[in-house]
Amino acid sequence: MNPVELPARLSLAQTPTPLQPLSRLSRELGGPNIWVKRDDLTGCAVSGNKVRKLEFTLARALAEGCDTLITAGGLQSNHCRATAILGAQLGLKVHLILRQEGRDATYPQGNLLLSELAGAEISIYSKTEYQKNAPTLFEQWSQHYRQQGAKPYCIPVGASDGTGVWGYIDCARELRDDFQRAGIQPAAIVHATGSGGTQAGLTAGAALHQLNSPVIGIAVCDNERYFFDKVRADLREWSSLYSPELDIEQLNIIVNDQYVGPGYAQATAEVFDTIALAASTEGLILDPVYTGKGFHGLVTEIRQGRFKSGDDVVFIHTGGIFGLMAQAEMLTTQIRSNT
Ligand SMILES: Cc1ncc(COP(=O)(O)O)c(C=O)c1O
Repeated sequence: MNPVELPARLSLAQTPTPLQPLSRLSRELGGPNIWVKRDDLTGCAVSGNKVRKLEFTLARALAEGCDTLITAGGLQSNHCRATAILGAQLGLKVHLILRQEGRDATYPQGNLLLSELAGAEISIYSKTEYQKNAPTLFEQWSQHYRQQGAKPYCIPVGASDGTGVWGYIDCARELRDDFQRAGIQPAAIVHATGSGGTQAGLTAGAALHQLNSPVIGIAVCDNERYFFDKVRADLREWSSLYSPELDIEQLNIIVNDQYVGPGYAQATAEVFDTIALAASTEGLILDPVYTGKGFHGLVTEIRQGRFKSGDDVVFIHTGGIFGLMAQAEMLTTQIRSNT
């Protein structure tokens, strides 16, 4: 039964995804039982959290008769890669506005490689140019396509807006069924938060589907204040578009910004160690930009005694494997320095 009436959506994600126990790692850490919701398995090239959101975003774009998708993000954006591939699947043109990060590689790697392969038009801007002009760039490119007779649809960074939040509202319904099947009442649902849409959806979805477990977003960039405001803004937009029966002002938005480290897409040696730990004890592949940082936050909190043994905690694995490939040098250097 779904007590929440969903708007139009496309069927693009491989769902429901499994909820799996991480028994060996839980034993090794000696704390709570750690579970992982495998949203890295929502697809192959289109894996991760973005496809859940894009099911709703792209349904809206098609309903409005759009034929061109414009979106933006970092050079290794998972969201941009997912949009590029889904655009190709749906026969839509895709234009990506990307923010330069790090130094230039000889060849495109990771997400950028896949976006190029899927035929997306790519414009790369320096960090300063992007930060200063991002809204104007959307408008500039929209105008460009309108002049060519096309009908563009702009998707905000991470598809985090009042429509994209449906993806994780509906994931909360899946989680309710997962928890019932596993016979657990988690002490926390933990995930990496970047543009806020996953957190907005999970926070609202947890209330709508009465999960009775706090949702904790571990920030991979920015700070607590930023996420309070962003999550609230996405939910306010959702509320004004769809008039749900939920008082969003009463929702408890929980952000932990202690694990951002040096900044977006920059991971510490400890994060790489946690990535290696998850891979070698459980065969679970995390990435240094999002899930590695988020999971490292959870593991650190467990080591500090934040949860009781016997508690169940659920980590939402939001994908990102191609971002790991783009940081092969850093990962390998760190792993080899430990041996
Ligand atoms: C792999 C991965 N995990 C987590 C996130 C964070 O999700 P959100 O942007 O909805 O906060 C993103 C995107 O930003 C992502 O690509």
